[in-house]
Amino acid sequence: MRAYDIIYKKRNNGALSKEEVEFLVFNYNNGEIPDYQMSAFLMAVCFTGMTDDEIFYLTSAMINSGDVIDLSSYGKLTADKHSTGGVGDGTSLIAAPIAASAGVIVPMMAGRSLGHTGGTLDKLESIPGFRTDASKKDFFEYLDFAGAAIIGQTQEIVPADKKIYALRDATATVESIPLICSSIMSKKIAEGAKSLVLDVKCGGGAFMKNLKDAKTLASKMVETGKKFGKNIFTFVTDMNTPLGSCIGNALEVKQAIEILKGNLRNDLSELSIELSGAMIFSAGLALSVEAAKDIAQKQISSGKAIEKFRQIIKTQGGNSKVIDSPDSVLPKASRSVKIKTAKSGFISQMFARDLAIASALCGAGREKKEDKIDYSAGIILHKKVSDFVKEGEVLAELLYNNSDKTEEAAQVAQNAYVISDVAPAKHNLIKEVL
Ligand code: URA
Repeated sequence: MRAYDIIYKKRNNGALSKEEVEFLVFNYNNGEIPDYQMSAFLMAVCFTGMTDDEIFYLTSAMINSGDVIDLSSYGKLTADKHSTGGVGDGTSLIAAPIAASAGVIVPMMAGRSLGHTGGTLDKLESIPGFRTDASKKDFFEYLDFAGAAIIGQTQEIVPADKKIYALRDATATVESIPLICSSIMSKKIAEGAKSLVLDVKCGGGAFMKNLKDAKTLASKMVETGKKFGKNIFTFVTDMNTPLGSCIGNALEVKQAIEILKGNLRNDLSELSIELSGAMIFSAGLALSVEAAKDIAQKQISSGKAIEKFRQIIKTQGGNSKVIDSPDSVLPKASRSVKIKTAKSGFISQMFARDLAIASALCGAGREKKEDKIDYSAGIILHKKVSDFVKEGEVLAELLYNNSDKTEEAAQVAQNAYVISDVAPAKHNLIKEVL
């Protein structure tokens, strides 16, 4: 078998066999197939797609590139959540401690920034000392000790996703239903959680731009998960506007801390309660979703959720003083530029993707696989959709250190706002629950 022939077949819309998919993943993972051939294959998948069988073969091959964790000793209690990628989407940082503080065991294998979207691992690594590169042994210890572990793909668990994920990020091969489905589901199946809560993002700031594609992705993930015996709860949520009031790694950690302390309520906290409620319900710790959401809310008001976050950070080697004084522990940008509105009116649109690109230009994202992220860089969103703004008012503030692309970033951010004379119609954050 040759990688060339497999790429050729996929490019011409052929359906690959189990053996062909396994050959490609196995040999890419062990270094026999170079990045350029895998990139060509990924691009072919972006253009021609995959059948359900091929998606299953790809997911299985990625799972089999490493070990599968057995968490059956925890019974029904294991539940995780995963988003298909958004902007300002720090829900994992909030939902994981809420659910874990309510007794859910959360084995979370998360991702780094991908395309224009942010990644939970990068956000957590902005906390000095926080380790996401755990071994299998560490993973079990974190779960035993804190009831949650938030780690990345490793040499032992889904190593193929680790390599392919980084390659997709640098080769514009992210927006593909089969690739997103197999990437997410391989991690989620290998990590061993019994239940999964999926947040499929939909809109201009998501990889799925419309409801039809988002629902197709959701159904592919559910079908794949069911083949592996997973219990799945799926939300399709809006990602036209960024969630919360900031974009960027350290900024989003600080915001998550404020939400977990009960000091801040916004669309991000609202969605985090929905997702952690679904995790609590799926784990069998509440009789209904509504009761589970009440529990989630109480974990915040009682202080248990923020204490759980402190414990997770400490267990994974992070400086847990970040909980008491985020400003003195998290990295801070030395420079800033304000984006002001040129006219008065209602903010009718804020293009999430453009704002994410502006944040990346400030240093918060990667352009190449090897790039280092500036954890302190990003954007503070002073205003959101529906707010009325007066001419000259500050819409957002870009934070950066050494980036030489801030002029471009400011221009992109400025153009991300649409100001109208009439207030926009209210949009639903949760579009569907499947
Ligand atoms: N999250 C992942 O883990 N993989 C993707 O492809 C997209 C979002």
